[in-house]
Amino acid sequence: MKNRKRLNQTKIISVTSGKGGVGKTNLVCNLAYCFASMGKKVMIMDADLSLGNVSVVLGLAPKYNISNVLYGDKQLKDIIISDKNGILVLPASSGIPELSNLTEMQKMTLMTRFGDLLSDIDMLLIDTGAGISSNVIYFNLAAGEIMVVITPEPTSITDAYALIKVMSTKHGQKNFSIILNMAKNEKEAKSIYKHLSIVADKFLKVSLSYAGFILYDDNISKSVIMQKTAMELYPESKSASCFKKLAYDIISKNENDYSDGNLQFFFNNLFKNERN
Ligand SMILES: Nc1ncnc2c1ncn2[C@@H]1O[C@H](COP(=O)(O)OP(=O)(O)OP(=O)(O)O)[C@@H](O)[C@H]1O
Ligand SMILES: [Mg+2]
Repeated sequence: MKNRKRLNQTKIISVTSGKGGVGKTNLVCNLAYCFASMGKKVMIMDADLSLGNVSVVLGLAPKYNISNVLYGDKQLKDIIISDKNGILVLPASSGIPELSNLTEMQKMTLMTRFGDLLSDIDMLLIDTGAGISSNVIYFNLAAGEIMVVITPEPTSITDAYALIKVMSTKHGQKNFSIILNMAKNEKEAKSIYKHLSIVADKFLKVSLSYAGFILYDDNISKSVIMQKTAMELYPESKSASCFKKLAYDIISKNENDYSDGNLQFFFNNLFKNERN
């Protein structure tokens, strides 16, 4: 009962995209850094299960990963590692193609064991893979907020629309947040959001909310090479101020927005999908 109460307070946010390489992993790691600096207990689930990058971006070398849970004798709690800033990471594997599409049994195994893990976590950030694979859909359905990352490139916008279309028409998901990464400025970000939002509303009857933007910043690729977050290495950079603002906005949002971001919600969705 104590766990259940606590679960409802865990904000579960998935960071996803149609197109690959739009900056999901960097966004997740930098947001996690911000949340940890704000005193929040934060966990990242690397849900790009077969090609995980979170550990690389944070400079971690996990001994075990999700494959040891699904194919070995490890429990989820055994594979969690912490970086020196207190960010907890549930590492994905690298190079196990079977994990790109979890079986129903594997999904159940993971999720039924998730409850205890979240008992003292304030924020769970799920870094999904790109595309519209069943894993991406599945992990997005587990989240209370689905944050779709786009860039100014038309291909990223088209692919985001495709993901939103699948999630709304096939899975009844009607609310998404949009974040514009690699933006030139705020005006560009808002204009692209507005166009996408009008189309999604008209053709999909989907409501898109504007989460914010991250400016294009060369410091981000430099930080990836150093295997640390841009927030840590370049706290005064232009992207760092965007990450901070975004993290602050997420925290300040009404708690009720996340009330369905818990395992009960997850299971409801799971079984609804099974019936369809
Ligand atoms: N705001 C930004 N400004 C400049 N470069 C950026 C920005 N955000 C991300 N990048 C760069 O874009 C590349 C892709 O970033 P990242 O790996 O985070 O994307 P991803 O969406 O997680 O990719 P994948 O779909 O492969 O998982 C990296 O080289 C990173 O340095
Ligand atoms: Mg990634």
